[in-house]
Amino acid sequence: VEPGPLTGKHVLVTAGPTHEPIDPVRVIANRSSGKQGFAIAAAAAQAGARVTLIAGPVSLPTPGGVARIDVETAQQMADAVEEALPADVAILVAAVADWRVEPSSAKLKKADGPPQLSFAPNPDILAILGEHPDRPTLLVGFAAETQDVVSNAEAKLRSKKADWIVANDVSGNVMGGSHNRIHLVTKQSVEDWPEAAKEDVARHLITRIAQELE
Ligand code: C5P
Repeated sequence: VEPGPLTGKHVLVTAGPTHEPIDPVRVIANRSSGKQGFAIAAAAAQAGARVTLIAGPVSLPTPGGVARIDVETAQQMADAVEEALPADVAILVAAVADWRVEPSSAKLKKADGPPQLSFAPNPDILAILGEHPDRPTLLVGFAAETQDVVSNAEAKLRSKKADWIVANDVSGNVMGGSHNRIHLVTKQSVEDWPEAAKEDVARHLITRIAQELE
């Protein structure tokens, strides 16, 4: 790896959806493609960082110079994140399922009628890191919202004890799409960034992070 602004830093990235099993063949999922998180992992590696990418189920190639750990569920993602600590920077881009169900060990049969699923909350990885004894120096969360994007991000920044929240409006074609328009919400300011390819958003974010760590 070429030396760069993040040489010597460990950057932890989560990306993609999680899958919460219902039975051996069915899952609860969401529309996250993993593109933005993978682009951020790639940009961090290009900036010289040691990068651990904890990925939910996505069909994307591993970026060069990135150590990838594949997981399926939110609980597995939380465990993998804690095992990967300490990190200088954590960027939690994954669209983690908020709830899981107690999966049936046998396939649910259609003839038995619609199942009654009962949901339990998943661990909130960002909130766990916000209070962790090995809290990363810079803790960055994402917020996918369809309304009140910035005010929801500001509330999230406080409640999860993050340093930055990258807020994006996903009411358009962002999830699975190639472009993103974000607002970088810090404790001091809100920056509205122009719409750009997810790779460019990733490079700008990594540049901002390197400046912040200086
Ligand atoms: O609360 P909400 O899901 O909107 O928060 C989004 C941010 O929190 C993202 O950075 C996401 O990766 C993170 N998150 C998490 N674990 C969860 C839920 C969200 O790390 N269980």
